[in-house]
Amino acid sequence: MGLLYKKNKNLKKAMNLEFIQNIHTEFTHQYPISIYIHWPFCLSKCPYCDFNSHVAKTINHDDWLNSYIHELTTFLPYFKNRKIQSIYFGGGTPSLMEPFVVKNILDFLKTNGVFDDSIEITLEANPTSSEYKKFSDFRNAGINRVSIGVQSLVEKDLKFLGRNHNANEAIETIRHAQEIFPRYSFDLIYSRPEQNLTDWQHELTQALTLADDHISLYQLTIEKGTKFFSMYRNGAFKMPHDDLSNEFYFLTDKILLEHGFQSYEISNYSKNKAWSKHNMCYWEYDDYLGIGPGAHSRLRNDFTNHYSFHNIYNPNHWLEATQIHSHAIQNLHNLTKKEIIEEMVIMGLRIKNGISHQKSIEKLGDKIENFFNKKTIEFLIHENLIQIDNQSFHTTEKGFRLVDYIVKKLYDSIEMH
Ligand SMILES: C[S@@+](CC[C@H](N)C(=O)[O-])C[C@H]1O[C@@H](n2cnc3c(N)ncnc32)[C@H](O)[C@@H]1O
Ligand code: SF4
Repeated sequence: MGLLYKKNKNLKKAMNLEFIQNIHTEFTHQYPISIYIHWPFCLSKCPYCDFNSHVAKTINHDDWLNSYIHELTTFLPYFKNRKIQSIYFGGGTPSLMEPFVVKNILDFLKTNGVFDDSIEITLEANPTSSEYKKFSDFRNAGINRVSIGVQSLVEKDLKFLGRNHNANEAIETIRHAQEIFPRYSFDLIYSRPEQNLTDWQHELTQALTLADDHISLYQLTIEKGTKFFSMYRNGAFKMPHDDLSNEFYFLTDKILLEHGFQSYEISNYSKNKAWSKHNMCYWEYDDYLGIGPGAHSRLRNDFTNHYSFHNIYNPNHWLEATQIHSHAIQNLHNLTKKEIIEEMVIMGLRIKNGISHQKSIEKLGDKIENFFNKKTIEFLIHENLIQIDNQSFHTTEKGFRLVDYIVKKLYDSIEMH
């Protein structure tokens, strides 16, 4: 493939894409790959959101499809004849995509990669009627799971969160999803200003009557650069203090358990291990290819080369770059073993299962605990923060809420061999 040179001001340097050709398929084909497709447009920008999402006056869906296919074609050697375990259309609001765009992308992936019955193909959807009317078309295109951004079932809070749907529309959307897709999940945001525990208990209990086997529950975070960030700084609202946030968390956990849901990650709950395969791929640090503006990738060529890179963030610049160069890669980097350990720790300790010995050996050649100072490991075990059993290196119940502290301790004690 050789060197691709800039025409676009965002691709300032020649990018060496040799790594895409230098793949040892006897290595990569042992492991499945997941693919993320980013759609960066929304009907309006929610005041809490710092995702790569924008409001556009016009969108040429044919141009977007062409660019996605250009990018996928560039990375074809990574998924050609390889098992694809998950495809995730995230955003922004991918339910605003024209179904023909989704269908063409999935047809391209199916023609080139290997799909089996276990493949999870998710699309994020917002709960408005114009979107759920497209659900059948998305299903026919190949989507088998939707993740719906309900956020709240309380009208005044939906207004506060700047959502352009009401609670009835959210419920209606879930009902459509139940009829059309084999699997669905939805998101709620809690620990909101002025929310109290009793109100949340009622809202969550109502929400659980609508749930299938998976739900994501996020505590509201004030992200830098958002409208909420300046409002909060100017005193327009107060956030629950830390003790109350903790109470919200423990109440949530308790209610979920009572309804048969287990927490498998700090914000994600499921019944019968119906985990999101796509998110598990990030947390278990498996290979993933990110397509679309701002999307990140982690791809291995063989046992020693593990690449990280991300795409140009701005949607228009990404579109231009992919049309000219068939890719929009920025910051291509061959990760060092130490960086891989750091990423595995920060991702893997987020899930209750932790970092399996099998995955550590697959990626590092040894169990992960053997890369840290023994005294630190002994201290973390003694403090009842981590546990090592036959399967994995994982946090205890106590450690699960103290992951930042544990990660810092581990980072400071890495010993390479
Ligand atoms: C990519 S976003 C949104 C997908 C979709 N456009 C929507 O709004 O429903 C995925 C989820 O992240 C959560 N989220 C985004 N920003 C958040 C914040 N500042 N605090 C808590 N949760 C947040 C929301 O629950 C949201 O559904
Ligand atoms: S929360 Fe969803 S709908 Fe709102 S701006 Fe972010 S991506 Fe768009």
